[in-house]
Amino acid sequence: MKTYRIASIPGDGIGKEVIAAGIDVLNSLSEKENFRIEFTAFDWSSERYLKTGAYIPEGGLDTLKTFDAIFFGAVGSPDVPDHISLWGLRLPICQGFDQYANVRPSRVLPGVDSPLKNGTAIDWVIVRENTEGEYSGSGGRVHKGLPEEIATETSVFTRVGVERIHRFAFELAKSRRRKHLTLVTKSNAQRHGMVLWDEIFFELKPEFPEVQTERVLVDAMTTRMVLKPESIDTVVASNLHADILSDLAAALSGSLGIAPTANLNPERKFPSMFEPIHGSAFDITGKGIANPIATFWTAAMMLDHLGEPKAAARLMKAIERTTEEQVFTPDLGGVHDTCAVTNAVKRAL
Ligand code: IPM
Ligand code: MG
Repeated sequence: MKTYRIASIPGDGIGKEVIAAGIDVLNSLSEKENFRIEFTAFDWSSERYLKTGAYIPEGGLDTLKTFDAIFFGAVGSPDVPDHISLWGLRLPICQGFDQYANVRPSRVLPGVDSPLKNGTAIDWVIVRENTEGEYSGSGGRVHKGLPEEIATETSVFTRVGVERIHRFAFELAKSRRRKHLTLVTKSNAQRHGMVLWDEIFFELKPEFPEVQTERVLVDAMTTRMVLKPESIDTVVASNLHADILSDLAAALSGSLGIAPTANLNPERKFPSMFEPIHGSAFDITGKGIANPIATFWTAAMMLDHLGEPKAAARLMKAIERTTEEQVFTPDLGGVHDTCAVTNAVKRAL
């Protein structure tokens, strides 16, 4: 029987709770389908960092590289500065494994209320560049603590990096029903890197005659998402711009607790990583009320990526059945806990 080897990294906070729920649902699904999943858990977390001084142990990425995919919870702790935890765990994996295409779908699931009047028009996929740009880590600080102190945070955009993400976004747009791609930049103010983004996009465009395109500045895009959600389909944007827009997209589609993400290495030279976008949420950690839906949805994306589209569709349907019946955690206005939602999805499978 086909067996997939999945590395699970629950990480911090509610990451542990939602990944446990995700594994539970995936085990129950694979029993019904014709494959097996073998999970190996890694304790890479802020707890580990505080104990040993490292999120990822020596040689850890070499071990991780041998898996078929990574199922990731969250990283972030009140006891560790955010930039340390991010650069200690998530970014070394995304950048080290060249997971340059970060894919973030949003849709108002059945039974879920959108803050928008016509929220059901939301059926978007945001493609976020995931290895460079504003997250390149380039920059520095001099004259620390002095009145003359200077800090630079340099965005790095490479032709190779920009071209591959645009190509990925065009292919994705082409595969979708509406075949529409919105290019989001800020090339009026950021006249080097963002202009390169625009140029390369329009260089590639003739290769994809079936895809309709539009260019929107990132500030205008926020109002567009709120006021004309039906005008958007696939979106491509830089690392930081797409980070911000995807939180807005999640909120507009009902809750951050629903939104999934896939960090893809499309060439499959390295494993890809699947995670909910909500983060560690220390305010609700340990209460058992974390919404596992984002993790289930990202698990469905993982199955699609692994080549199990039928199982992925079955899981998505079970998720939709559960939301339709409004078996909701408190973030969606419900009274159910993580366990109840997990059991409802397992029943619906
Ligand atoms: C996301 C998150 C991360 C990011 C945080 C946790 C650093 O917001 O995946 O969207 O900004 O990349
Ligand atoms: Mg974010």
